[in-house]
Amino acid sequence: MTWTANKPYNELPPVPPAVEIETRKVLKATIEARSALSALDQASQRIPNPTILINTLPLLEAQASSEVENIVTTADDLFKFANDENAARSPETKETLRYRTALFRGMESIRSRPISTNTAIEVCSIIHSREMPIRRLPGTYIGNPVTQAAIYTPPSGEAVIVDKMANWEKFIHSHGDLDPLVVMAIAHYQFEAIHPFTDGNGRTGRILNILLLIEAGLLRQPILYLSRFIIRNRAEYYRLLLDVTTSGTWEEWILFMLEGLRQTAESTVNKIDAISALQSTTTERVRGLTKGGANADLLAVLFEKPYCRIADVMASCRVSRPTATSWLNALVDAGVLTDIRVGRERLFVNVEFFQLLTRAEQPES
Ligand SMILES: Nc1ncnc2c1ncn2[C@@H]1O[C@H](COP(=O)(O)OP(=O)(O)O)[C@@H](O)[C@H]1O
Ligand SMILES: [Mg+2]
Repeated sequence: MTWTANKPYNELPPVPPAVEIETRKVLKATIEARSALSALDQASQRIPNPTILINTLPLLEAQASSEVENIVTTADDLFKFANDENAARSPETKETLRYRTALFRGMESIRSRPISTNTAIEVCSIIHSREMPIRRLPGTYIGNPVTQAAIYTPPSGEAVIVDKMANWEKFIHSHGDLDPLVVMAIAHYQFEAIHPFTDGNGRTGRILNILLLIEAGLLRQPILYLSRFIIRNRAEYYRLLLDVTTSGTWEEWILFMLEGLRQTAESTVNKIDAISALQSTTTERVRGLTKGGANADLLAVLFEKPYCRIADVMASCRVSRPTATSWLNALVDAGVLTDIRVGRERLFVNVEFFQLLTRAEQPES
């Protein structure tokens, strides 16, 4: 073993690992995660208005993934400023909203070309809102946040990193018959171990996870909320990444990621079911409150934008400001919405929906 905590790990082995990967345990966990994921994909197609999920779940994922890196913001602020990241007051909220933007850009990018080092560069650059090239200078390491002592030092030297990224990229698209979920787990370790950027590797790597599942055709929308599992098990996530390096414990790492996929997919399905149910009861309550038959469009806005502005209703329902205002006021009077003021603006909050979004959904077991 040539590994030392404070020495650049230029000997990081290429992927796939030279050990038996699909053990019985891994295969069994893969099957369970695959079926949970397929249920999630179906649930996302079943819901009457999938835009609701696409507008909301990636924000929760962005919040959790950023929190893994101690970038903490409230869901409240995220939804308030969801449509205008520059209006957000705190740098943390801005940064978290950019994570969501980066995820969407990644989605667009893989529509025209396969996942590559460039995808990672693109994603990382959006997270940081400046060009993030592959590391050129030495000095990047993962350290103890208190003592600064090195825990892991990634490979150093631009050519070495570029080389290892080329191996990573090739592995993603030609891995024999490994299951795509196992490929995701292996690729995530490898990406983090290469640590190609000076910062943003964790978040970029977690966006790549979702993109890999989409590229493999296992998910049509970026609605998996995997970072919730990671933030809840952050110490284990860090420990298992390091264990692969120090002890080659691939099976444990892969099982951890597969369990995360299964749990997250199941709890996201539960959330989608709860959203559907709330949509139905809200439809009943809203019926008759507004005149002119714009109920369907209005309802869509209330769920696509849990923090909704008068201008949102004007645009979605194609009505004048007075009409939009009177509809929203009627909903406030009926207790469906709560209005708040943010600066000079009035925001109408679908409180019940917001609470549903942010509450912890339990997986089946
Ligand atoms: N021992 C380790 N080996 C490899 N990667 C690790 C290790 N410990 C943590 N990581 C990864 O490094 C990430 C932090 O790297 P960083 O570049 O600061 O990302 P970000 O800015 O998104 O936080 C963690 O989220 C984790 O994915
Ligand atoms: Mg960081």
